[in-house]
Amino acid sequence: MAETALASERPRFEHQGIAFGCDYNPEQWDPAVWREDVRLMQQAGVDLVAVNIFGWAALQAADGSFDFTALDEVIELLHNAGIRVNLGTGTSSPPPWLTTRHPEVLPVVEDGTTRFPGGRQAWCPSSPVFRRYAVDLAEAVAQRYGRHPAIALWHVSNELGCHNALCHCEESTRAFRRWLRARHGSIDELNRAWGTSFWSQRYSDWDEILTPKLTLSSRNPGQLLDFHRFSSDELLAHYRAEAAAIRRHSALPITTNFMVTAHIRDLDYWAWAPEMDVIANDHYLDHRLGEPRAELAFAADLTRGLAGGDPWLLMEHSTGAVNWQPVNLAKEPGQLLRNSLTHVARGADAVCFFQWRASLQGSEKFHSALLPHAGTDSDLWREVLELGRIVGALDEVAGARVQADVALLFSWEAWWASDAENRPTHALEYLDQVHALYGALHDLGVTVDVVRPGADLTGYRLVVTPGLYLVSDADAAALDEAVAAGAHALVTFYSGIVDEQDRVRPGGYPGAWRELLGIRVQEFAPVLPGTRIALESGAGATVWAERLEATEAEVVDRFADGPAARRPAVTRRAGGGSAGDAWYLATLLDRAALRDLVRRVVTAAGVRREPGAGAEVEIIRRTDGETVWRFIVNHSAEAIDVDAHGTELVTGSTVEGLLAVPAGAVRVIREERAA
Ligand code: GLA
Repeated sequence: MAETALASERPRFEHQGIAFGCDYNPEQWDPAVWREDVRLMQQAGVDLVAVNIFGWAALQAADGSFDFTALDEVIELLHNAGIRVNLGTGTSSPPPWLTTRHPEVLPVVEDGTTRFPGGRQAWCPSSPVFRRYAVDLAEAVAQRYGRHPAIALWHVSNELGCHNALCHCEESTRAFRRWLRARHGSIDELNRAWGTSFWSQRYSDWDEILTPKLTLSSRNPGQLLDFHRFSSDELLAHYRAEAAAIRRHSALPITTNFMVTAHIRDLDYWAWAPEMDVIANDHYLDHRLGEPRAELAFAADLTRGLAGGDPWLLMEHSTGAVNWQPVNLAKEPGQLLRNSLTHVARGADAVCFFQWRASLQGSEKFHSALLPHAGTDSDLWREVLELGRIVGALDEVAGARVQADVALLFSWEAWWASDAENRPTHALEYLDQVHALYGALHDLGVTVDVVRPGADLTGYRLVVTPGLYLVSDADAAALDEAVAAGAHALVTFYSGIVDEQDRVRPGGYPGAWRELLGIRVQEFAPVLPGTRIALESGAGATVWAERLEATEAEVVDRFADGPAARRPAVTRRAGGGSAGDAWYLATLLDRAALRDLVRRVVTAAGVRREPGAGAEVEIIRRTDGETVWRFIVNHSAEAIDVDAHGTELVTGSTVEGLLAVPAGAVRVIREERAA
């Protein structure tokens, strides 16, 4: 196992300005097309290209034989054009000869059936056979190109765990037992951790333990939670093994593309992030969600959190429609620019896409690309050229950090535990609460850092904790300490309920923060879908109520009806002295009411809001400590005016006083004086 280097010792991703690039899959095209591709990439200003992402079958047609001829040529073509390479290890999807010879590497899903090749990622994360082949390929690629001057960055596999995170094969079962032994030490400790005295589940030997396959009833939640942890760790171990092979041949930065997004939840990226040389994320607008645009902002802020506030790389997004949602919406004119620069505003130092040229065959042939099926005589290509120009005009922003007064606590472990098979209500999921609270802040034009529970909260005026069901004692204490030091807190229902092993803290909810909040919840009282709840202030709510008493806190609002009528619904415990106030919200407020409450909380906390910013206009600042760049993303159908003094980088104009930002446009001001 490679040792984890200290962050300061890690190789940094060095690039001239903001990178503009894409995945490039030349194996799908005739070599004559490669030349045209490189010429057009130059025309568009593309300067970072990911290759060999799905290259395994092309590089290794049979066991033991590598043929790098085509990849050599592609890398030379890119290099001669001054385009830098983000080189994949190519191990994401094994070629058919491997799965034919070694069917034991195939993944098994929770009903015990095997998933076959023919798609992608058909491999078990714990398979030593797969690991050996993958590391051999990564090593061969690194050996060949480790000193090639075109290489800027190493790209391990692709979206590890996108499809194959949870495997239940026999190899995974054995690996799970080893992992459990290391975590719990003894079978008695494991029995305690999982609460196996319930339903006669007590284990007497490690060999009795299985992965949580499908059962007739609901499964043991402790077992499920540990299986998620194990599965995330197994894929991280796979990453480490490939990264170690690369490191033997290259000192350049190594990463893999994360999936910080609403529909993938199997990887605990807080555990992964310290092992990346640079954080990279793939993000696609998800039109199955209520607020895809706010989710984009949330994902970007969370990715920045994973990077510890440093710049990160947007490794993939789309120029237009994807191919994997029920209805795949094209982007509106200008939306490509707005989406891309929202990521840059929120800390991205690279704007990259899946993929360069739209495929003619295969599952993704209707996925958008930089170069669409329609070719260069298309509105999309013209937008791509314009985007490339603008990204180039923003080069000076690279390296700058985002300024935020508010931290929002987010946890994958809490997500796994919270969305359990049996819980108080299935009408709400963890992310719904997270998005609701983030959305209210977004509506108010507040910039947010999304951080892990237990993170250093020094310097934040407000810490928001939406529905953080699971939290360890140590991480809970970090919030107490932040409030004692002057930060304000807003905690919402179903937070602080269980410890890290999903054990309820008794004595009234939320056991982790009863004292901090000055409240005690005796009973949850969720309501049926469609049922409306009124608060005494007139605010409307749904989904959740609870029977709460304010022990030390002031009651700000009460339930007017529903199962908790006349009980507190919003409370505030005044900090007094130098401590901050601790607010608690016991229901899911309607959007406008939640925004009103959050406005009240951010005002009391002294949080800075960007004048003119809200759901339709995003305003975010990046700074290098001296210069401030203010991004204004106008999603609305109306032109707006903002106060500005300085240079506007998109149009290259000087601004003295009022800057008009047309409908749908983005402007970036290098401020003459830090505002
Ligand atoms: C992911 C993958 C890409 C491609 C895109 C399509 O991000 O990494 O290979 O499949 O999805 O949206």
